[in-house]
Order: sequence, then structure tokens, then C-alpha cells
Amino acid sequence: DWSIASFIDLKIAEIRELVGDRKVLLGLSGGVDSSVVGVLLQKAIGDQLVCIFVDHGLLRKDEAKQVMESLGGKFGLNIIPVDASERFLSKLEGVSDPEQKRKIIGNEFVYVFDDEATKLDGIDFLAQGTLYTDVIESGTETAQTIKSHHNVGGLPEDMQFDLLEPLNTLFKDEVRAVGTELGMPDSIVWRQPFPGPGLAIRVIGEVTKEKLEIVRESDAILREEIKNAGLERDIWQYFTVLPGFKSVGVMGDVRTYDYTIGIRAVTSVDGMTSEWAHIPYDVLNKISQRIVNEVKHVNRVVLDITSKPPATIEWE
Ligand code: XMP
Repeated sequence: DWSIASFIDLKIAEIRELVGDRKVLLGLSGGVDSSVVGVLLQKAIGDQLVCIFVDHGLLRKDEAKQVMESLGGKFGLNIIPVDASERFLSKLEGVSDPEQKRKIIGNEFVYVFDDEATKLDGIDFLAQGTLYTDVIESGTETAQTIKSHHNVGGLPEDMQFDLLEPLNTLFKDEVRAVGTELGMPDSIVWRQPFPGPGLAIRVIGEVTKEKLEIVRESDAILREEIKNAGLERDIWQYFTVLPGFKSVGVMGDVRTYDYTIGIRAVTSVDGMTSEWAHIPYDVLNKISQRIVNEVKHVNRVVLDITSKPPATIEWE
């Protein structure tokens, strides 16, 4: 695409001119926006870009590994990985209120990022994956907070950076086009939305290692089967949730008393409203069978058939 290619050339020239021989810091989340910013900056200024990737232990299966292999490996980004899972888990211990959980994770994220950023010397710029829509929306205030959203890359409070927001004139579809033009794989460019608090808001109530593992494994099965069925691009978002109650089942001749997994899959244009996705019965059947057979401590699978509103997409 001519216009996308020239956008990239222009931005690269602009970034080189602005940054000179100074250093830029970027918080990588594995999401589309920060990944595209990372690859674009790497093209422009190479190792003058330093990325911090915080693994809060609430990511999906193999996600951290994929970020390191793809962005760190193939695209050669200079990434400092930070495994902060224990830190987040201990902060979440005993906490079951959804807003409380979100706040703890959002705050902890900024602390971890700051801790790492202050170890670095001579950083002049902070890059962010701000889009045009973020620029517009920050001008408006919604009357009521439904959920406190958290995004990656909180600003260290006492550090002075200039902001670098190379995507702030683009819409999401243009960002994807830039990513594709930069040679990035569909798995990154077409990644479904994933909330900042991660799997923590898909384990209803208190987060434990065991519950995280159940959501993570069942989610991996769901994603694999949606991919096999060729439905990835038709469904806006699809994931599993763990409501946390137990019910009775039977396996072989033995009574079981185990967890239920909920499947949430929705179609949407912008996440503001959504319909539940009509996944074919045979695909649902396969997903259900695989989850109860392959994920320990699950003996029941249910499907969420509510739209937004009145439900939200995530359960917390
Ligand atoms: P809800 O659950 O409010 O979600 O219907 C709408 C969309 O927003 C995503 N979501 C988040 N994204 N940080 C994010 O970056 C968050 O804290 C967060 N919470 C929800 C959700 O996955 C859906 O795409």
C-alpha cells in the first residue's frame, strides 16, 4: 500500500530527526499498538530504543514467550523482560472485589515499570502507542466509570521524559496496515483485544495460582479450536471465565465436584456494544469436550448468551 509505506518512511525520518542519538523507552504489552510502535522505532533508531516488558503473571498461555521470540528475536527489539508474577499474585491475595483487583494491578504495574525505568540511564523519550481515537477520547469524560481501565505504560512520576506518540494520527485499521507493511505476523497485527488486568478479571473473585491455570488452559483450548474452525477474524473477542463455584458431575463411575468454565465470545465493532457470537454447535461441542477432558478440576462448560448492554464483555 503506497500511502502506508510513505507514512512509515515519513515517520522514520521524523523520529530520527527528533531523537538524534538519544534514547527512547517503551513499555511493551504484546498488544498491537505498542508492538507496532516498537518495530517502527527499531527500524528508525535501532538499539537506541529500550523496551520494558512486564509479565504480571496474568497473561495468556505462552504469551510472554511469544513476545520475546517474535519481537525480541525476529524483529531484534532490545527488550528487558521483567517477571513480576509473584509480586502481583501476592498483592492480589485475599482480594475479591473487581474494582479493587483492577486498581491493585494498575498501580502495581506502574510501580514495577518505574522500578525498571529508574535503573536505566540517559533516557530522554517515552514512546507510547496512543492512537487518534485515544486523543479524541481523552478530551471527553464519561459520566460514570463502569470499570476502571488500565493500559500499559504509566509515567514514572519523578522522571522527565518527552512523549513520542508516532501513531497518534492513525485509526486502529491503519495501525494494523502499518504492522503488516512492517512485516509483522497476523498473530500480532490481528491479536484480539486483551485487557490490561489480564486473566485476573476472568477469574471471578479471589485470584489463585490454581484458578489462573484453569482459565489459562481452557482459554488456550478455546483459541485453538476457534482458529481451527477459521473463525478468528469473525469473532471480536473470545475467552473463558472461571465463575469459581463448584457443581456435581460424573466421570467414569465416579462422582466429581469441580469447577465450571464459562465461554464468552462476542461480535462487536468497537467494544462499546456487543452481541454474543453464534459459534457453530459442532465447534462448541469440541471445545466443551476438550476442556472437560484436558483441564483438571473442570466438569462443566456453559456459554454466555448475553449481549452488551446489559452485560459487559468481561465478567469483571
Ligand atoms: P467491557 O468488559 O467493559 O470491555 O465490556 C470492553 C472492552 O474493553 C476491554 N477491557 C480492557 N482493556 N484495559 C484494557 O486495555 C482494561 O482494564 C480493560 N477492561 C476491559 C475488554 O476486553 C473489551 O474488549
